[in-house]
Amino acid sequence: MQADPSNVEQLRAWDGDTGDFWAAHAERFDEGVAAYHGHLLAAAGIHATENVLDVGCGAGQTTRDAARCASAGSALGVDLSSRMIELARRLAEREQVENVTFQQADAQNHAFPDRSFDIAISRSGAMFFGDAPAAFANIARAVRHGGRLVLLAWQPLEKNEWLRAFRAALAAGRDLPVPPPEAPSPFALSDPDRVRRVLTSAGFMDVRLHGLTEPMYFGPDPDDACRFVAGQQAGMLHDLDADARARALDALRADMTDHQTDRGVLYDSAAWLIEARRG
Ligand SMILES: C[S@@+](CC[C@H](N)C(=O)[O-])C[C@H]1O[C@@H](n2cnc3c(N)ncnc32)[C@H](O)[C@@H]1O
Repeated sequence: MQADPSNVEQLRAWDGDTGDFWAAHAERFDEGVAAYHGHLLAAAGIHATENVLDVGCGAGQTTRDAARCASAGSALGVDLSSRMIELARRLAEREQVENVTFQQADAQNHAFPDRSFDIAISRSGAMFFGDAPAAFANIARAVRHGGRLVLLAWQPLEKNEWLRAFRAALAAGRDLPVPPPEAPSPFALSDPDRVRRVLTSAGFMDVRLHGLTEPMYFGPDPDDACRFVAGQQAGMLHDLDADARARALDALRADMTDHQTDRGVLYDSAAWLIEARRG
């Protein structure tokens, strides 16, 4: 696979330690955003004969469910992470989903056959492009005229209690930088004006954003959730010495104790459901 040069850092992370962590904890990540999953599938409204592209499919839960909806069609999941693609293939085999394929690919430059998909979907997998206009133009080329785009993406950091809380705890007194709005990051599609601009110039029309707020699940209890988040957010911890790291993790565990519910450790979150049509 030849990633676009603008995605080399993302490839290093997702086809490296970050992607390996996601693959090792795929079930927890699926549980984490479970409250959003139904919103995405309902908005996608996939018909039996449709062909679906899942962008940044990770371990492929959304691709498998899309393939189940497209029972006489197909679903292709693409992702930068070889480990997640391998896992996605194994899970599809285990669940006997036969009309699904997975490919390690950079969705920004992959040579998808022109106009071959009825719909492109993504659950938090379309915010990491080094060149978002080029990536969405490439995705638009792959979708037939009149086809659909349905994405889930995070609203701004201020609206996402989970990451604000984790950053506050793990900062351990440092001033952690916030990625610039156009840089590849979980918040690259958080600005509605930018989303409309990028998607419209890529060839999509009727761009609509619908705000959703749902709880995110991080684990059954604070100790377990804290271990998981320490791994997920390892990048925030690696500069800290042992004392500061211990203090940061204590602060995180204390915050999680305040967020323990009878359904586990839950934090508020806010996402955009983004829908558009291929012109
Ligand atoms: C936050 S994860 C979401 C994974 C999956 N959609 C889910 O909901 O579990 C983001 C995913 O996007 C993938 N990704 C990032 N940039 C990509 C690109 N240029 N092409 C394909 N996949 C990409 C990453 O490898 C990662 O698996």
